[in-house]
Amino acid sequence: MNQWVPPMTTVHIPVKIFTQLLPVAGYCLVSFAQVACAQGDPARGALAWQKNCTECHTVEKDDTGPRHAGLVGRRAGSVPGFEYSAALKASNFTWDAALLDRWIANPSLLVPGQAMDFKMGDAAMRADIVAYLMTLRAPK
Ligand code: HEC
Repeated sequence: MNQWVPPMTTVHIPVKIFTQLLPVAGYCLVSFAQVACAQGDPARGALAWQKNCTECHTVEKDDTGPRHAGLVGRRAGSVPGFEYSAALKASNFTWDAALLDRWIANPSLLVPGQAMDFKMGDAAMRADIVAYLMTLRAPK
């Protein structure tokens, strides 16, 4: 009858495993809010950026697209003198890692009516590019 009641020692084991796993789960959730659970590599990101973004963007100067220096922490659609789409100009948010990831994945999903003709399905490569973009400071 009482067979199902486990002795104290076997009760302790699952509790211990649970508390050991908790920090791992927490880490994943926290990172998820930033770059989809995968920390990007800025060096790999620099190469991927060269390949995918420099057709239209440079770091310091506006081109087909606005300059990328100082992107993180900048209000979207706010580089003075760059002719943004009405949609991006009217958007009201500041670039951070999570928003950049969503933008590169599918800009029209984030800002319908925007004018950047590009999207990237590869999440690992996006994480690398975002890690690189975060290293680009605004010029003084
Ligand atoms: C075919 C040209 C083209 C390519 C390739 C391209 N972009 Fe863009 N990008 C644009 C244009 C044009 C805009 C302005 C969009 C608007 O006004 O709606 C823009 C805007 C942006 C913005 C918004 C900046 C701001 O000031 O708000 C970010 C961020 C961005 N691009 C990142 C990237 C990244 C990262 C890549 C490479 C993975 C990339 N773009 C590739 C043309 C391009």
